[in-house]
Amino acid sequence: MLPISRNVRIVTAVAVAGSLTVFLLRRYRRFINGGQFTEDVSAEGKIVVVTGANTGIGFETAKELNLRGAKVYMLCRHPLRAQTAREKMIKAGCDASRLIYIHCDLSSFKSVRECAVELIKRESHIDILINNAGIMIEIFKKTEDGHEIMWQTNYLGHFLLTELLLPIVENSKKGRIINVASINERLVSYRDFDLRYIDAPESSLISEVDIYYSRSKLANIMHARELSRRLRHRGINNVTVNSLHPGQFHTLNNFISLS
Ligand SMILES: NC(=O)c1ccc[n+]([C@@H]2O[C@H](COP(=O)([O-])OP(=O)(O)OC[C@H]3O[C@@H](n4cnc5c(N)ncnc54)[C@H](OP(=O)(O)O)[C@@H]3O)[C@@H](O)[C@H]2O)c1
Repeated sequence: MLPISRNVRIVTAVAVAGSLTVFLLRRYRRFINGGQFTEDVSAEGKIVVVTGANTGIGFETAKELNLRGAKVYMLCRHPLRAQTAREKMIKAGCDASRLIYIHCDLSSFKSVRECAVELIKRESHIDILINNAGIMIEIFKKTEDGHEIMWQTNYLGHFLLTELLLPIVENSKKGRIINVASINERLVSYRDFDLRYIDAPESSLISEVDIYYSRSKLANIMHARELSRRLRHRGINNVTVNSLHPGQFHTLNNFISLS
């Protein structure tokens, strides 16, 4: 039998270690999940464009902004999936007259240009542009424009869309451009940006999926920073450009793209 004081010390040590583990696990989970916006802010009267709005983060963002009063353009590549998502949002209480689907395949410059023309025809200003759509696939594939598919979908397509819509975002009293990036950007550095090889099959110590995806996500961040700098340089102070990591979770679509 152990002396009482030793028993107490063991129990105390186990309790402290347990509490510390729970505390660290909670902090880690909060870090991985990212922050959550719960404030009751209205989006009444705002005109919003969300890419990849038919599922996952784009779906929730489009739905929430519509519920808060915004007119939301859902930019999606697949008409049926967009239609199904739109119906789901309407069932969840969204206003159908403020929920508009426009076809946009970010892996095609032609499609992005057509989509921008359509938006500019419909609206004289855009308040919020959310560059959300993204893919992570395990095979090396090129687009019709000759670019590696993740590079074009996640970055080049959004870059072009932003450039084309910028004049009408600048027409907003408070324009907001948001690039949905990823914490995966930390897996690469600016040294991985040799444009001569950016569309070529990689051989790397980290897996190819990681390098292609991470590079496109780092580009989303660099795009936001540089565009922000250029706007300030031109004296445009009514538009902000930001990038974010949305947190880590799996949607059904993630599983399909990854498998
Ligand atoms: N989920 C996470 O844990 C996580 C973590 C970090 C960053 N992110 C980023 O967050 C964003 C959204 O991710 P998610 O988890 O919501 O992904 P998701 O559920 O897979 O949704 C991606 C959306 O992008 C659309 N999309 C894909 N390729 C497209 C193209 N060529 N043209 C137009 N739309 C296209 C998809 O349309 P289809 O349904 O037609 O495929 C879908 O609507 C992505 O940029 C992702 O990189 C996610």
